[in-house]
Amino acid sequence: MNRTSVTEPTPLDTQDRKPVISLRNLKKHFPIRTGVFSRVAGHVKAVDGVSFDIYPGETFGLVGESGCGKSTTGQVILRLLPATGGSVHYRGEDVYAASGERMRALRKEMQIVFQDPYSALNPRMTVGAAIREILGVHGIATGAAAQHRVEQVLSRCGLQPYHSDRYPHEFSGGQRQRVVIARALALDPNFIVADEPISALDVSIQSQIINLLEDLQEEFDLTYLFVSHDLSVVKHIADRVGVMYLGKLVEVAEKKAFYEKPLHPYSEALLSAVPVSDPSHKKERIILKGDVPSPSNPPSGCPFHTRCPYVMDVCRKVVPQLLPTETGHYAACHLVHPPEKSIAAAKAAGDETGGVVDTESQESSNAPVS
Ligand SMILES: Nc1ncnc2c1ncn2[C@@H]1O[C@H](COP(=O)(O)OP(=O)(O)OP(=O)(O)O)[C@@H](O)[C@H]1O
Ligand code: SF4
Ligand SMILES: [Mg+2]
Repeated sequence: MNRTSVTEPTPLDTQDRKPVISLRNLKKHFPIRTGVFSRVAGHVKAVDGVSFDIYPGETFGLVGESGCGKSTTGQVILRLLPATGGSVHYRGEDVYAASGERMRALRKEMQIVFQDPYSALNPRMTVGAAIREILGVHGIATGAAAQHRVEQVLSRCGLQPYHSDRYPHEFSGGQRQRVVIARALALDPNFIVADEPISALDVSIQSQIINLLEDLQEEFDLTYLFVSHDLSVVKHIADRVGVMYLGKLVEVAEKKAFYEKPLHPYSEALLSAVPVSDPSHKKERIILKGDVPSPSNPPSGCPFHTRCPYVMDVCRKVVPQLLPTETGHYAACHLVHPPEKSIAAAKAAGDETGGVVDTESQESSNAPVS
């Protein structure tokens, strides 16, 4: 059976801008090892053929349930984890073709802010020493100039110059995330992967960190990949939204179009669970049946077919490709695009089967997450 997901380059940009980040058919498969000889018994397809672009100054919100591959996508983009296949371009440059020296330079421009600021900081170093060290490694500044830069970025992130002499445990959670953001900012990056940057924080300070990220974006012309499972936060901060399910992108759209009328049944279900402020617009919550299937043995055809309320026969047999509507709203669903269109797109992208799977293997495709 061929489960290759072949997605078209997405999404096309109407203004002909050059993307900051460009992914094509990106894959990250983790080997599953068993036995004393660590034999590879299979693969977790954490990211399985993802393509999208992020444009200058844009915030691309990547959403989906836990385990769908959001964080892995962010880390593979930055080469913190090696890709299994596909490509990543940063401002037109192939990130995976970069030499060690070039990669060090690229790392300066592409930063990451993790969910848990405490584990992102060295508990034995003052935050000033940690930031100075990074400035030295990247050849940006040393000595008094480095300290000046530390104080500058700490102040810009809402902290005080004297915080430079403090250790991570001496900060509150929100302050620690400010330190992590300041550390990323110190290198003067262009692109930041913000991986659930507020999920570990108290609700009362989440909005402060979001506001800080927005202010910094405007001031320093930053481009963000904002990873989150919280669709309310993404609605606030993102310009466009991508929805992942079992390692694949199933929908990509401008924020307004996405929140007003999601096209993919999975997105529809996710959005139905978001609380609304206006009670007259109350939506009926769509409860998805069944467990999330295992990413090591995803369902045939549409990966969502085991839980989709609208499942049809063809959904089990033909992989729906992520294709655009006339308005540039991308969705991978046979209700949105006729299956023939997906088959043709898959063939055009080199998949001889056209994404048509044999049906015998369907029986084994409902295994729960391992
Ligand atoms: N180092 C690893 N080795 C093996 N499997 C991994 C590894 N890292 C992640 N995975 C698996 O890859 C899949 C995607 O994980 P990932 O962390 O990217 O999900 P996520 O969407 O960020 O989830 P969450 O919302 O919980 O953070 C999961 O099934 C996870 O178990
Ligand atoms: S392709 Fe079929 S199973 Fe998949 S989301 Fe669309 S209707 Fe549901
Ligand atoms: Mg994650």
